[in-house]
Amino acid sequence: MASNNFPSQSHLLVIIIFITTLLTPITTNNTSPQPWNILSNDNFAGKLTSASSSVEAAAIDFGHVTKILPSAVLNPSSVQDIIDLIKLSFDSQSSFPIAARGHGHSFRGQAAAKDGVVVNMRSMVNEDRGIKVSRTGLYADVDTAWLWIEVLNKTLELGLTPVSWTDYLYLTIGGTLSNGGISGQTSRYGPQISNVLELDVITGKGEIATCSNDTNSDLFYAALGGLGQFGIITRARIKLELAPKRAKWLRFLYTDFSEFTRDQERLISETDGLHFLEGSVMLDHGPPDNWRSTYYPPSDHLRIVSMIKRYRVIYCLEVAKYYDETSQHSVNEEIEKLSESLNYVRGFVYEKDVTYIDFLNRVRTGELNLKSKGQWDVPHPWLNLFVPKSQISRFDYGVFKGIILRNNITTGPLLVYPMKRIMWNDQMSTAIPEEDVFYAVGFLRSAEFDNWEAYDKENMEVLKFCEDAKMDVIQYLPYHASQEGWVRHFGPMWNTFVERKYRYDPKMILSPGQNIFR
Ligand SMILES: Cc1cc2nc3c(=O)[nH]c(=O)nc-3n(C[C@H](O)[C@H](O)[C@H](O)COP(=O)(O)OP(=O)(O)OC[C@H]3O[C@@H](n4cnc5c(N)ncnc54)[C@H](O)[C@@H]3O)c2cc1C
Ligand SMILES: *[C@@H]1O[C@H](CO)[C@@H](O)[C@H](O)[C@H]1NC(C)=O
Ligand SMILES: *[C@@H]1O[C@H](CO)[C@@H](O)[C@H](O)[C@H]1NC(C)=O
Ligand SMILES: *[C@@H]1O[C@H](CO)[C@@H](O)[C@H](O)[C@H]1NC(C)=O
Ligand SMILES: *[C@@H]1O[C@H](CO)[C@@H](O)[C@H](O)[C@H]1NC(C)=O
Repeated sequence: MASNNFPSQSHLLVIIIFITTLLTPITTNNTSPQPWNILSNDNFAGKLTSASSSVEAAAIDFGHVTKILPSAVLNPSSVQDIIDLIKLSFDSQSSFPIAARGHGHSFRGQAAAKDGVVVNMRSMVNEDRGIKVSRTGLYADVDTAWLWIEVLNKTLELGLTPVSWTDYLYLTIGGTLSNGGISGQTSRYGPQISNVLELDVITGKGEIATCSNDTNSDLFYAALGGLGQFGIITRARIKLELAPKRAKWLRFLYTDFSEFTRDQERLISETDGLHFLEGSVMLDHGPPDNWRSTYYPPSDHLRIVSMIKRYRVIYCLEVAKYYDETSQHSVNEEIEKLSESLNYVRGFVYEKDVTYIDFLNRVRTGELNLKSKGQWDVPHPWLNLFVPKSQISRFDYGVFKGIILRNNITTGPLLVYPMKRIMWNDQMSTAIPEEDVFYAVGFLRSAEFDNWEAYDKENMEVLKFCEDAKMDVIQYLPYHASQEGWVRHFGPMWNTFVERKYRYDPKMILSPGQNIFR
């Protein structure tokens, strides 16, 4: 909470508007090293480009609903290149915006830098360096431009693995740590940002600092979930554990939402339980599989679909239990006990036994399949929410069984699974609900270029429903069109967020595509 002598939100807004007015660049040609005339700067020889192919590529992202052109793209080969670029902007009278771009898998131009410079982090990746594993410390020091799949590949060679994941692994360390990084492991291990021991961050002043819970802790927690607002993270020290060999991967189908959530909530409260827990909503739109995974045996598709048709909405609880040689025998018993204890529709349980890496990389198959059909680089009007536990049945009634059924346009994965607030740290920047347990809900839509707006409209309808019903729902991977939206998004954390912005990026240079400041 903000202290009493700190200005109120409305005062702060006035101050922000005032200061940003002061900072508006005065464009005289001789004093301002704008990106288009630093192209010849010796420090960046060959690394800074305004070639249309580079600029066009940096203008779009996975969402395919925005196109925001930078003036130039920096392909850094070292951390020093990024420091030099930020310093150049910070020291000049008319600073230019700068955004780190990881894998560009944002949905709404969050990694864009209109008329500024996009830093293509991936150009830093060098197969021979950039990841150092400490077996004794059980951590890896990783350049943040690496993809999670690449880190997994490297650590598995040593029999080790990070513990907290996203569903899809072709995302950079820097990109997911700037948001949170959630998946079915979050209930047990916390989000990815709770599994980081140390960071190197280049602030908006062009200063690099190592930070952790003990050193520069304010910067450490600011950067975790910080939406790129406080610095460019260049290195992260990620916790590791011994890697399991295999996973039992199960799905249980439910027709009753309260049975479904009751089982989910019970399972995440058991400390020695499962390694992964998610859930999804299944609607009457063709086969039960979707691009996230091919799972159900084809011979069962018909009976699953007929159950969906009968109930219109059904739910799928998805869990995994890791095991290896030593736990091979006990795991079957545990799975049996688990199945007995759950209130799914008898007969609708599915089990797969897969390698650990195949389990973690399960979304890749779907991606390659969509790519082969030209259905990957299409608009993705996604919506991700955190819904407090106390509101989840109203959400089911009003959204899944209300808006979504009525409109009957939603296809593709629709995720709903709970996590525990205690696994997050209050000082981190990601905004989460106040309640001890809250649900992640994801509408992961694939659309077409001529119809994506219908989905976006549906997203607005969902958001409006939650707002009118005062459900205290918070967006994950947030997008807000106005600053008022951001003030509401952060709630009591907003003051801290703004203070940190002035501390670490006073000229508002970094990640302007998040649309929070200016
Ligand atoms: C198919 C798919 C599946 C997904 N599944 C999940 C999931 O299961 N769980 C989940 O939590 N998320 C998921 N996401 C969302 C994903 O975590 C975010 O979109 C993430 O930002 C993508 O990483 P990126 O490397 O592409 O980041 P980018 O889109 O390149 O960047 C995202 C933001 O972070 C900033 N940024 C990037 N790198 C750095 C850095 N090194 N330092 C500081 N700021 C930086 C950028 O400026 C931008 O504002 C998914 C996305 C996709 C496309
Ligand atoms: C400044 O630069 C712009 C574009 O490069 C040019 O059109 C304009 O004439 C210049 N102004 C001065 C005062 O040099
Ligand atoms: C991971 O390793 C496997 C082989 O072990 C390889 O086929 C694959 O290309 C690697 N993936 C990445 C992204 O490095
Ligand atoms: C972080 O530091 C604080 C204060 O120094 C300490 O109380 C806390 O236990 C530390 N937390 C972690 C996760 O190390
Ligand atoms: C919903 O849309 C699908 C086609 O996408 C159609 O087959 C189905 O009949 C529709 N359901 C209702 C209730 O209108």
